Amino acid sequence: KRTINSCHHGKIKLLKCMDVSNPIDVLKVLELSEDMEGVSLESGLCTSREGREETDLSYKIDKKIQLSAPSKQLFPDSSFPMNFSVMATVRAVKGSQAFLLSIYDSQGTQQLGVEIGRSPVFLYEDHEGQPPPELYPTFRKINLADGKWHRVAYSVEGQSVTLYLDCVKLDTLELLRGFDPHVSIEGVTVFGTRLLDEGVFEGDIQQLLIVEDPRAAETYCQDYIPDCDAPLPYNTILAEAEEVSPLGIS
Ligand SMILES: *[C@@H]1O[C@H](CO)[C@@H](O)[C@H](O)[C@H]1NC(C)=O
Repeated sequence: KRTINSCHHGKIKLLKCMDVSNPIDVLKVLELSEDMEGVSLESGLCTSREGREETDLSYKIDKKIQLSAPSKQLFPDSSFPMNFSVMATVRAVKGSQAFLLSIYDSQGTQQLGVEIGRSPVFLYEDHEGQPPPELYPTFRKINLADGKWHRVAYSVEGQSVTLYLDCVKLDTLELLRGFDPHVSIEGVTVFGTRLLDEGVFEGDIQQLLIVEDPRAAETYCQDYIPDCDAPLPYNTILAEAEEVSPLGIS
């Protein structure tokens, strides 16, 4: 299940690598669908791509939706990884501020929170409560909610978290967690908000992945959502749409 080096070096890339690094496709597991009220299928980051006439697809979310699942569904045969990447392709409504992904322990303590907005915080708390909230890494002077598409990729490794935005490394901040940190999968995973928050993610989302490889974030724009002049190696939404017959009869 470990990612092999060929994901990042040499010629054996993309699909081969996908199998090995096994991304956790959060939208798929939580079953986000255009059949939900307030969700519709729209175009995504690229309206056309090399070798394909179709546009990328994304889900437009314009209503408060409730989407959660036991975290065990994301990690059926493993625990939450110590070092990992969280990667998303989103277009948040300008000026909005919300948590895209929240993971709770069984007591309801939030252990992971990926915020989209102005000066986004990367909420992470291990099983011993480290770091405390005042030390959560905050990416100041960055606005992830400016009404434009962004590829947002966080890499968590050891005592630091790095943010890559649209394929550019922006900053590395200290993540002062313990040396044997655990994030529980006994609780729930919530999409688009925090349990007690008013704010809910508004905008479009094309992809949301967790990968058990801290290096995946650095190559998100090559291995998962490349620029529009390259085909998509892995497509959350199209893969589903293609399974549906033209008449909607399966
Ligand atoms: C996570 O990364 C740190 C820093 O690179 C390393 O010391 C540690 O062994 C890694 N943990 C696992 C489980 O791979």
